[in-house]
Amino acid sequence: MKLVLVVSLGVALVASCPFGDEEIKAGKRLIKTSFEEPGQWMDEDEIWALIMKHQNFIDITDHNFPDIKEGDVNVQAIPTTLRFQSTVNGLLGRTNITRIQDFVGTFSSYFSRYYQSPNGTESQRWLLSQVQDSIANYVGNATVNEVVHPFGVQNSIIARITGSDPTLRGEIVIIGAHQDSVNTFGALLAAPGADDNASGSVVVLETLRVLVEGGYIPKRTIEFHWYAAEEVGLRGSAAIAQIYNTNRVNVVGMVNFDVPGYHIAGRDEIGIYTDHVNAEVTTLLRLLVDGYCTYTWINKTCGYGCSDHASWTNYGFPAGFPAETVFHPLMHRPGDNFESVGFTQVNEFVKLSLGFVVEMSEPGSL
Ligand SMILES: *[C@@H]1O[C@H](CO)[C@@H](O)[C@H](O)[C@H]1NC(C)=O
Ligand SMILES: *[C@@H]1O[C@H](CO)[C@@H](O)[C@H](O)[C@H]1NC(C)=O
Ligand SMILES: *[C@@H]1O[C@H](CO)[C@@H](O)[C@H](O)[C@H]1NC(C)=O
Ligand SMILES: *[C@@H]1O[C@H](CO)[C@@H](O)[C@H](O)[C@H]1NC(C)=O
Ligand SMILES: [Zn+2]
Repeated sequence: MKLVLVVSLGVALVASCPFGDEEIKAGKRLIKTSFEEPGQWMDEDEIWALIMKHQNFIDITDHNFPDIKEGDVNVQAIPTTLRFQSTVNGLLGRTNITRIQDFVGTFSSYFSRYYQSPNGTESQRWLLSQVQDSIANYVGNATVNEVVHPFGVQNSIIARITGSDPTLRGEIVIIGAHQDSVNTFGALLAAPGADDNASGSVVVLETLRVLVEGGYIPKRTIEFHWYAAEEVGLRGSAAIAQIYNTNRVNVVGMVNFDVPGYHIAGRDEIGIYTDHVNAEVTTLLRLLVDGYCTYTWINKTCGYGCSDHASWTNYGFPAGFPAETVFHPLMHRPGDNFESVGFTQVNEFVKLSLGFVVEMSEPGSL
């Protein structure tokens, strides 16, 4: 079953910003580059200067993050042991590296997926069609929504497999990735973004495809997110996390996949990022690598605002972030191309992702 809804999140968010009306009228954005500093109003050139020097940042113009204290984050659903090995192992055999390569090949062949470029809209429509095709023959109930953002032409996409248990279906497990790309030197330049972040997008898509083909029916609801506009301050994911916070959606665990594709010979390792994440989700990710992947894990950090998990952390949801251990040296350049992606490694992240959604999608029965 499939269904396409268009959800407009537009006007209310922009109107909710109490300060900076003049700056917003002047086209400026409130940009925060570290946990400590309060944010600065910047015009487009100033924001591009940050992108050019690979400075991570969060666009907080439309956001007033809640004050999250230890103990506020609901971690009750996060398991501390692996319980569904036979189910997960059955699904792991279904991942398809050729299909993963086909996706990354096409997605990275768009001239750019920059969120405000015409190709960024085209690539988003193609991704939407791939997601719709993926769920067409699902045995359970699945839907696809587009999320229209006020800031640009590229929509985020949310696919949802509805949980079979009437009580647990209100508890949401999320895997997400950003779909946009960027070229450091300008919006009009080539940005294939094969590793960053076509490879994260395909981890989420391949997980969905394998679950559908395996006829897997979760008790909790699983959502699959592809965010717009990550490269300009995590804007798509922050908009969605904000709505979920406002609507008190019970997100029981979130994992973000970004840049899983750059492999260094001899280093068969998954980076488990330990900053701006939830400790319980992070512990589970290590267990999942040990239990379901051929690779081993190492601890890493990536700093303030490095990717979309930060949006979920900022809104008080338990989120984790696994990625390549050394970032692609040609990130945000034309050299981040298909040839530079290690697909065996990407497949390891799909295995991790499958383990995550299955282990999270029902309470233990021990
Ligand atoms: C893997 O994917 C490719 C490309 O979509 C397809 O041709 C092939 O049949 C798939 N292999 C299996 C075993 O399903
Ligand atoms: C990208 O956009 C340009 C200009 O609008 C267009 O000519 C081209 O066909 C688009 N598609 C791809 C795959 O780059
Ligand atoms: C799918 O939805 C239908 C109608 O609401 C319901 O009867 C059915 O049990 C659902 N299937 C699953 C697997 O949740
Ligand atoms: C990784 O980080 C966790 C949590 O801080 C710590 O318990 C563990 O010892 C670290 N492991 C390694 C190998 O660094
Ligand atoms: Zn990037």
